[in-house]
Amino acid sequence: MKKIRIKDKWFETYLSENQIQERIKQLGLQIGNDFRGEDLVIVGVLNGSFIFMADLVRAIPIPVTCEFLKISSYSGLESTGKVTEVIGIPASIAGKCILLVEDIVDTGKSISYLLNQLIDLQPKRTAIASLLFKKDAFEFNYPIDYVGFEIPNKFVVGFGLDYDGEGRNFPAIYQLRIP
Ligand code: IMP
Ligand code: MG
Repeated sequence: MKKIRIKDKWFETYLSENQIQERIKQLGLQIGNDFRGEDLVIVGVLNGSFIFMADLVRAIPIPVTCEFLKISSYSGLESTGKVTEVIGIPASIAGKCILLVEDIVDTGKSISYLLNQLIDLQPKRTAIASLLFKKDAFEFNYPIDYVGFEIPNKFVVGFGLDYDGEGRNFPAIYQLRIP
């Protein structure tokens, strides 16, 4: 599928299923090497990360623990920039390594808020993995440790990312078409 329609908008392929899978395999190996011998807790940020998380953890060749938490900060096409809720922060992460997994880092407000919450629980080390990174929209200056693809500041859907709740199921990533 080259073009898809979700509600009132048209999107076109931006990253193919193959490109995404190849990149996730590389990230998984890199994470495995970086955390070998450590207690690694992979924390997926719902809903967007569930597809990336599922493929990423299967590409990591060391045993890990999986947790999920949920926040909300986005409506329609624009980030509201406000995190309203966090549900499910794992209690037992003191002294362990945490890898936060996001579908996309845009302004960085969501991930920054979460990092602050997790740091209070005294992990040994925290790192971030995000399939996509809108570098030009990022408002912070710490590194995103594992980035699948840096992308321009344009709206995308698929592979876990939604437009107004729909489109997370598409196995590739599609970019908004400006008519
Ligand atoms: P941030 O707090 O601005 O970094 O926003 C991060 C969240 O906004 C992500 O976890 C996504 O849920 C959502 N988001 C940001 N950009 C896009 C996009 O292009 N498509 C779909 N969701 C997006
Ligand atoms: Mg999200």
